[in-house]
Amino acid sequence: MKIKNIYFILLFISALFTACSSSDDTGGGTDDDPIIPDPIVASFTSEISGSDPRVLLLNNTTAGEDFDAYWDYGKGDGLIEDQPGIEEVTYDTPGQFTITLTVLKSGVTSTANTTINVDEDGICPNGDCGPSNGSGLKGATTTFSVGMITRSSLISSGGQHTQSLIADFNNLTSEYEMKMNIMYPSQGNYDFSAADAIVGFAQANNMDVHGHALIWHNATPPWVENFAGTDAEFEAMVEDYITTTVQRYSGTVRSWDVVNEAVEDGSNSLRNSVFRQKMGDNYIQKCFQFARNADPNVLLFYNDYNFASDSGKRAAIFDIADSLGNLIDGLGAQMHISINGPSAANIQAVADGTVTRGLKLHFAELDIRTNPEEDANVSALSSTKAQQQKDKFEEVVNIYNSIPLDNKFALTVWGLRDNESWLLDFWGVPDWPLMFDESYNPKPAYQGFLDGLQ
Ligand code: G3I
Repeated sequence: MKIKNIYFILLFISALFTACSSSDDTGGGTDDDPIIPDPIVASFTSEISGSDPRVLLLNNTTAGEDFDAYWDYGKGDGLIEDQPGIEEVTYDTPGQFTITLTVLKSGVTSTANTTINVDEDGICPNGDCGPSNGSGLKGATTTFSVGMITRSSLISSGGQHTQSLIADFNNLTSEYEMKMNIMYPSQGNYDFSAADAIVGFAQANNMDVHGHALIWHNATPPWVENFAGTDAEFEAMVEDYITTTVQRYSGTVRSWDVVNEAVEDGSNSLRNSVFRQKMGDNYIQKCFQFARNADPNVLLFYNDYNFASDSGKRAAIFDIADSLGNLIDGLGAQMHISINGPSAANIQAVADGTVTRGLKLHFAELDIRTNPEEDANVSALSSTKAQQQKDKFEEVVNIYNSIPLDNKFALTVWGLRDNESWLLDFWGVPDWPLMFDESYNPKPAYQGFLDGLQ
């Protein structure tokens, strides 16, 4: 029987016990004196083992007796019943872990917790891992950048979000605030406030920034969709927008997705976006030329989804790359995938086609759905699915890590914690597609990323 069920049965029994004991007076009080249970206050000590820096010694020091106690070691193993004596818990994965002790007595629940930081040398005394020697995911590879997305609101609120960014990642992408609808909300009025905050944070923390995305049909402000002027005026406006933006971040933004998702699903022809309507079928070339003119040193990417899962789309994307000649530096494969696919062979085909063209490859928006069957009733990530996800992370990272050095650029994951993923709104079903749970604890997927580098 699951620990949780025992947990609730015990709760029920103790509540029943409380109720009964107050009914028959065996304690010498008068009939109407209620029995006030002793307040239970959870407490514990934690100490790094003297013999193994990866081992934490946990001692439940909760005062009193006849209470039930359970540990959550923050490793995604769920609740574990406290045993007499010292608990020895091994942490051999870099990251941040929150340990929680829950005690119950007479219907009263109390918890205590502590957070530890772990790097490749073990548990960091007082949570301080010292000067970063490149620990975490970013330190596990020196041949490409490890990227994560963020938002200006998360940057300004700081806390565990920014700690996790600094601990594991060295390349930042703005999830939505470096797109035209945010940076250019009305004609002649640019708003770079959010983008500046993200770029500023990256600079302060020795991270690169991948600009995403200058031109995207899904993040085009209404005034551009309904542009009033001539086609020539439209094209001049786009050139001004790209030039202004790219020059503003020259030297602070290492790379840009110049155009995102221009290939129509199914037909694999160019989407009939307002940019194509107003600037012609060669609008992509024009936009890359504007960006190249604005900053000859910034890396320019074309980015799209279903690059691996749709061979027809893959061919169309490679055609776009071929049509750009030396205007393009790299291709972004978004990699919104699942535990069921695409297959390693299809992912490899993306890498092979990019490498043979001498281009950089960016796995740009990796997330791995664990509930592709869209089961609306699933309530937790099963260990089986967590293992499948770990294996898929390992497979994807391994394929990326195996490409030649000159073609390497970055592997970016599209979200830090499961509960922050865009996929939850998009598919409307529960899912756990990322490497950290909502308590910022690394999941098996995190280890899968590391194993992919072996
Ligand atoms: O933060 C504001 C919030 O303050 C406001 O109350 C709320 C209601 O308007 O909007 C919130 O901003 C939303 C933001 O996501 C954060 O949730 C924006 O409206 C919404 O447009 C934005 O959606 C982003 C979307 O791209 C469009 O830019 C998603 O976060 C982002 O994950 C998604 O990412 C795309 C890639 O760029 C391209 N590939 C597919 C991927 C998923 O769609």
